[in-house]
Amino acid sequence: LAVAAPEVRIVQEGEVPPATIEAALVDEPPIGSLLEYRNLRVVLSLSAGVDTLLADTTLPNVPVVRLVNAEMANLMREYVAYHVLRLHRGFAEMERLQQERRWEWMSPSPSARSRRVTVLGLGHLGRPAAEALASLGFQVSAWSRTPKTITGIRCVSGITDLHAVLPDTEILVSVLPLTSETRGLLAEDLFGRLPKGASIINVGRGGCVDESDLLRALDCGQLSHATLDVVAVEPLPENDPLWTHPRVTITPHTAAYPPPETFVAAIARTLERVHRDERFDREVDRARGY
Ligand SMILES: NC(=O)c1ccc[n+]([C@@H]2O[C@H](COP(=O)([O-])OP(=O)(O)OC[C@H]3O[C@@H](n4cnc5c(N)ncnc54)[C@H](OP(=O)(O)O)[C@@H]3O)[C@@H](O)[C@H]2O)c1
Repeated sequence: LAVAAPEVRIVQEGEVPPATIEAALVDEPPIGSLLEYRNLRVVLSLSAGVDTLLADTTLPNVPVVRLVNAEMANLMREYVAYHVLRLHRGFAEMERLQQERRWEWMSPSPSARSRRVTVLGLGHLGRPAAEALASLGFQVSAWSRTPKTITGIRCVSGITDLHAVLPDTEILVSVLPLTSETRGLLAEDLFGRLPKGASIINVGRGGCVDESDLLRALDCGQLSHATLDVVAVEPLPENDPLWTHPRVTITPHTAAYPPPETFVAAIARTLERVHRDERFDREVDRARGY
């Protein structure tokens, strides 16, 4: 960063008086951390999910910018494509059978062309994931807050239209941010609208899923598998039943976690904008919550 933005003086927290700082680079800081930074002009969030940051009522009233980059979108695309294919072809079940040394013929698998997948969230990360699935041949629907048009994808918005696509959704992928509207959205009512035996993949935020309802839906067979990269409490506590459930796959919030150096250009660009008094890219809308 010192090379990309030589005019910027970079300091660690506590090195200089907070009132001298104009831009704060943060990654889900503890509540109240920014209270003393009275002369801030921008907060740059290394975390793409800003729900924790926005929950801090002492957060200075300055623009909050999300530092998402192309590499994150690439990683999310790979994660979603891999896990949708894994469920689509029954590989999760085969991994389980191997543990028991069982060689079982499985019923013939249709190709992606007859598999229906719905992606919740069509933002920086959700859209590339949905497009990758469509390019693999899946029948893709996608849900966003505002209407969108994307070639090869059935785009819907609003809760009524979401309810209309759920009965046709065999694999549901959530790339939603956590907001007052999305908290607990993936719960009993939504699971009950999916066809029996559907699977879910959550790469958005853990709080979007009601985990007790999820376990019940898995145990009664309404859902056949859940792949969770994000969970309500992270790290997932050692005694949590999700760890050992035979039809749950846990990955440790790693779907789209690129090396820190890939953020340097976006940080430098944002800091330049502070000095030129320009509008920021990817500024968070605090009222919307993402
Ligand atoms: N697992 C990981 O490694 C990882 C990494 C990075 C981020 N994430 C999570 O992924 C989330 C999404 O990231 P992003 O960069 O794609 O966010 P984004 O660009 O802000 O996109 C959010 C998408 O969600 C839609 N949305 C929000 N509220 C909605 C609602 N009430 N109903 C329907 N759609 C709604 C938005 O609709 P509009 O298009 O209409 O605005 C938008 O399409 C982040 O918030 C973060 O929590 C996870």
